[in-house]
Amino acid sequence: MAKATEILRKEHDVILKMIEATEITAARLERGERVPDSLLAGIIEFFQLFADRCHHGKEEEVFFPRLVEKGMPSDGGPVGVMLHEHEMGRELIRRMSEAEGAYRAGASSAASSWAKAARSYATLLREHISKENEVLFMMAERMLSETEQQELAEAFERVETERMGAGTHERLHARMEQLLREAASSPAH
Ligand SMILES: [Fe+2]
Ligand SMILES: [Fe+2]
Repeated sequence: MAKATEILRKEHDVILKMIEATEITAARLERGERVPDSLLAGIIEFFQLFADRCHHGKEEEVFFPRLVEKGMPSDGGPVGVMLHEHEMGRELIRRMSEAEGAYRAGASSAASSWAKAARSYATLLREHISKENEVLFMMAERMLSETEQQELAEAFERVETERMGAGTHERLHARMEQLLREAASSPAH
């Protein structure tokens, strides 16, 4: 089985792909283009389920607590910063979701509200992921033994089954491919 930090790094790559699609979509809205409601809703759903419930769930319920057990400070230190950024992300997703509802209802300012929240979310997550990859995970890789990495990877599987249900991860991957294509496709003339 892959090491816990490898699993989290791979999930970061998936999240970064969706962040690109999010920025492309924000740019289309900023140009005044009409995009399908389902694209905005799909992007939000992806971040709520894959990034927050699944990936942040593994970090918050399994990975960070183990680092704290191993002696990393629980607040103030890098773990505290990461937890705070997860919260900021939730707030921005909430704003994107609100704007999506308004967009669907035809509100004139909704496109720019969605784009603004989405750009903030993209910036936040990119920086968050780079801090985890380049700082926190490097520290974790020095602190954790091979056996501990394996135990954490097994615990991740339990989080995934309990919080997501069997098959959800695969369904989200397929949905992501579809959203990437949708985000990049030009409007119909
Ligand atoms: Fe995180
Ligand atoms: Fe992460």
